[in-house]
Amino acid sequence: MKLLPTPFRALVIGASGTIGDAFVELLTNHPACSELTGVHRHSKYPLDYLNPDSIESCAAELAAEAPYQLIINTIGVLHSEHWMPEKRLDDLNADQLIDLMKINAIGPALTIRHFSKLLDPQNSIMVTLSAKVGSIEDNRLGGWYSYRASKAALNMLIKTAAIELTRTKPNAALIALHPGTVNSRLSKPFRGQQIGRPANEAVADMFRVIENLQKEDTGSFLSYSGEKLPW
Ligand SMILES: NC(=O)c1ccc[n+]([C@@H]2O[C@H](COP(=O)([O-])OP(=O)(O)OC[C@H]3O[C@@H](n4cnc5c(N)ncnc54)[C@H](OP(=O)(O)O)[C@@H]3O)[C@@H](O)[C@H]2O)c1
Repeated sequence: MKLLPTPFRALVIGASGTIGDAFVELLTNHPACSELTGVHRHSKYPLDYLNPDSIESCAAELAAEAPYQLIINTIGVLHSEHWMPEKRLDDLNADQLIDLMKINAIGPALTIRHFSKLLDPQNSIMVTLSAKVGSIEDNRLGGWYSYRASKAALNMLIKTAAIELTRTKPNAALIALHPGTVNSRLSKPFRGQQIGRPANEAVADMFRVIENLQKEDTGSFLSYSGEKLPW
């Protein structure tokens, strides 16, 4: 049985990003989405993954409008003004590893901790955007150490939380979802404009996957096509 009810109330975390904004647009125009909230670093109730306390306070502020039947977290980084993905071992450095762990793994995990309490116990889905390059089994090219490691850590945190939630919220599914290569700020330095799809196409594909999720899918790592990805 499909988990997403009609109507449903949705929350997009990271609504200022390219994919986050495209989810906001899709859900705003979706007839079954009765209410939509978007949060990001500069929203009314801000959350910044370099300030973990902001995650709990944002969730506390939004508790008044809970429960949500759908939460989608799109926050993530690949590069910054200080560093680019590592090409070789000699590029590896503690600052970059720590920052990517904070933003791509620790922040999303604490988001699951605090925002899963806002999920509807009857029927709900929490999706966190991961990346196929976080798959250990699928790693053929190497490189991008901190991004790969942070997304692999994220995948483990999602899987572990999903197992706990099957006991405490058996009608909720936690999913790691790979969007494919999308033309965005994140992919721009890596020929994202040439090789990436428009965000609205990727989001339409991902929403088709979300709409068809069943509670048995919890703890899965899925691609935008619905394919199950190796951990
Ligand atoms: N684009 C791709 O090809 C691709 C491929 C695989 C996976 N993904 C994943 O998809 C997700 C969305 O990526 P995107 O392409 O939409 O990237 P994007 O346009 O760069 O958006 C990134 C989002 O993360 C937020 N963010 C960055 N640092 C943050 C922090 N410290 N605290 C809170 N929010 C922070 C940004 O907020 P600001 O607007 O405030 O900067 C923005 O909302 C990411 O998790 C990424 O790893 C993307």
